[in-house]
Amino acid sequence: MNNRYLLDEGTEAIDRLALVQRIYGSGSRAMLLAAGSLEGRRVLELGCGTGSMTRWLAEQVGEGGVVVGADASGAQLEVARARCAGFPSVRFVCADASDTGLAPGEFDLVYLRLLLMHVPAPQTVLAHAHALLRPGGSVLCEEAAIDSTFTDPPLPEQRELHALANEMARERGCDFNVARRLGSLVRASGFELVTLSAQQPVLLRGPEKRLEVASFEEAMQHWPQASDETRARGARVIASLASAASDEETVYGLSMMMRARGRKPHR
Ligand SMILES: C[S@@+](CC[C@H](N)C(=O)[O-])C[C@H]1O[C@@H](n2cnc3c(N)ncnc32)[C@H](O)[C@@H]1O
Repeated sequence: MNNRYLLDEGTEAIDRLALVQRIYGSGSRAMLLAAGSLEGRRVLELGCGTGSMTRWLAEQVGEGGVVVGADASGAQLEVARARCAGFPSVRFVCADASDTGLAPGEFDLVYLRLLLMHVPAPQTVLAHAHALLRPGGSVLCEEAAIDSTFTDPPLPEQRELHALANEMARERGCDFNVARRLGSLVRASGFELVTLSAQQPVLLRGPEKRLEVASFEEAMQHWPQASDETRARGARVIASLASAASDEETVYGLSMMMRARGRKPHR
């Protein structure tokens, strides 16, 4: 159990992370494939969660490659292990992403999605990724900017959600909008910044529209320090945005996903 992490873990995390995968997965796969063939590569996924991407990575590297999934949560890893059963190239490590105990220079590629926003020192995680890569190896990071969501017509509860989410993050020493400085963080961790791009899903209908409100609802449940007044504000936000998510007259803009690729220089 990771006491900083604000979302469900293990089997309870499966549905929400499946929604994440449905919405952002094709962009994640495209970014990884754009970095070159993964066949035979040694890949580390930091903060692999329930293994939504880990299994796909295992398929890509094939029998000649290696995939290591690392996560601080044993419950997440249990689900990920089951999902990757039958792939001998995959193994898992239960560890903090800034200190996995893995050997320096062991990997061709380090991949992470929606991890840096949950850690107090994202640069330490990226510095560790740098140490674990061989010279010329790549880090690929994806982070969502929580304050980028919107509805059309606009709703005041959306701004309220951003304020509450910032409060939760501040209390834990994290930054839920770390995506906005992803490029400079990658550079400051010793990488050449090779590519930087962003995707913002904008939806009219479908269960995917619920991702923001489902995530916020989970996070509120993992916020024991919240006062009664804060809980009441949270409940109003959830009611309003859940209704917007089920109303086809309302457009829902989900979090912008920032994607950065950095290369470890040959020196
Ligand atoms: C939002 S989930 C994303 C999971 C996965 N990357 C995905 O996109 O489906 C974030 C994951 O990071 C893990 N995590 C949070 N803080 C961590 C840390 N300091 N070290 C390792 N894992 C951590 C959580 O346990 C969780 O599984």
